[in-house]
Amino acid sequence: MDMFVVHGGRRLRGRVRVSGAKNAALPILAAVLASDGPTVLQGVPDLVDVTTLCQLLTALGVEVSRERCPSNSADQPENAPAEPVNGPGLDTGLDTADACVPAGESPTEDQDQYVPFPFGVGEADDSVHTRVPALKLEVINSGPCLADYELVRRMRAGICVLGPLLARRGRACVSLPGGCNIGDRPVDLHLKGLAALGAELRVERGYIFACARRLRGAKIYLGGPFGSTVTGTCNVMTAAALARGVTTIEAAACEPEVGDLGNYLNRMGAKISGLGTPFLHIEGVESLAGCEHTIIPDRIEAATLMIAAAMTRGDVVLENIAVDHMTAVIEKLREIGVAIETVGHAARVTVRRDLLPADCIMLPYPGLPTDVQAQLMSLLTTVSGISIITDKVFPDRFMHAAELARMGASIRREGPSAIISGVPDLSGASVMASDLRASAALVLAALAAQGDSVIHRIYHLDRGYDRLEHKLNDLGAGIVRAQDVPLNMPASLSINPAEMLPADDGGHELRGPKWLRSRENLKIHAPEEA
Ligand code: EPU
Repeated sequence: MDMFVVHGGRRLRGRVRVSGAKNAALPILAAVLASDGPTVLQGVPDLVDVTTLCQLLTALGVEVSRERCPSNSADQPENAPAEPVNGPGLDTGLDTADACVPAGESPTEDQDQYVPFPFGVGEADDSVHTRVPALKLEVINSGPCLADYELVRRMRAGICVLGPLLARRGRACVSLPGGCNIGDRPVDLHLKGLAALGAELRVERGYIFACARRLRGAKIYLGGPFGSTVTGTCNVMTAAALARGVTTIEAAACEPEVGDLGNYLNRMGAKISGLGTPFLHIEGVESLAGCEHTIIPDRIEAATLMIAAAMTRGDVVLENIAVDHMTAVIEKLREIGVAIETVGHAARVTVRRDLLPADCIMLPYPGLPTDVQAQLMSLLTTVSGISIITDKVFPDRFMHAAELARMGASIRREGPSAIISGVPDLSGASVMASDLRASAALVLAALAAQGDSVIHRIYHLDRGYDRLEHKLNDLGAGIVRAQDVPLNMPASLSINPAEMLPADDGGHELRGPKWLRSRENLKIHAPEEA
């Protein structure tokens, strides 16, 4: 298992290219099961979840290959992961003096010569991160219908094969999915939608068993207690694309990733209108052909990088972003005081004044995305004043709060909300990632913290971010990936009580606040008194 050692306090500067969207790529890959003929997908991010889904597709009879990319084959990424280091304490090899800025401080004018934006947008196109080879996929065996627990338990998006399998092969046996530990994640709306299309479904022994001779169009309402469902809409929309007759979906998810899947299906010959709105109109077709498609940019990765720039009081240009998909995030960051200038598919992020606390409510699109909640929380922990974050999509998605507290953040949980009292500085610490976006939030906090941090269980991050540490390191961050073994813990994180506590004067006197010093309160009794 890997961990990150992050040397905090370095200002991020430079340009970075955002990868294709994980949450668009995964349902689109799954929808290949509904097609006949070869598909070529550009911009599929290089992620563990993508690899897992490709393994699942292979098991389901899809031939998957990565096209060779000539300019990439011989190259090593500039920031290739560091080899595990032997010997006590990991030497990060990072220059601590360079480009450091205290977490809560804005750069002064003489620290930072401001060059007006845009400048050189497009130059990042040659960076190693743009050379992601296309994925080629084609169904070569339409017999299998089992999506096994061993693969589906590793990611939520495994459920996305249900609709395409059912629609194209008439039968599906799909394990109930796993994924991030962010609260309840039922699939009742997926099942309701597919049942309305005429599927027979039952859940038994951890699997969904579904069959249908030919699905038929229906009127379907997909709203649930927390709004619409993203992967549920993907499943039902893909199935309806091959159903006989017309389907209307009300309360469909409006997320851009659902729109990207819809556009991909239309490119294959589907007839879907209303994409990006809660009302979808789908005229079923007999078959879907292969096609070529480019995945939209990842708005969550872009938001994460924007917040990284803000937290390090940096100056970062992001390329390959869909500005229109990020209105709520950009507006909120501007309200907090982050300067964001946009030109075409690029944005420059700087901080030129003190940041302000904020009230953030996570909602389905076009609201603030729940997938940016943890990263915003990281940012607000360093902003003086009281901020409130409420997550209306996943009201229990707060596992990161306790880990941020280990770094000195002050956060109080109140039901679906967290109340954050900004602190001047975070301090580096050992922390544990609990899920994908929580991992990102901890990386951001570690970038802004004073001193070194270690983030354990970084495999969560690898599931959903395409080479995040390389991108951040290209911008000047100090992140080293190492094997998570005690030998690799940085010496800077080992604690010497003598340095952290007042000198022991030999009197064994209790220190601390007055009430703590009272033996009466503490109910500590010498053995003879007991
Ligand atoms: N819900 C139901 N019944 C259902 C389905 C969902 O009540 O049948 C509830 C959920 O419990 C939740 C809300 O509806 O409270 C929204 O869940 P949704 O189904 O929209 O989530 P999802 O499709 O499982 C996708 C993303 C998540 C993202 C959510 C919300 C993928 C693979 N995952 O999950 O992404 O948080 O939509 O936008 O697309 C991530 O990338 O880190 C991530 C967790």
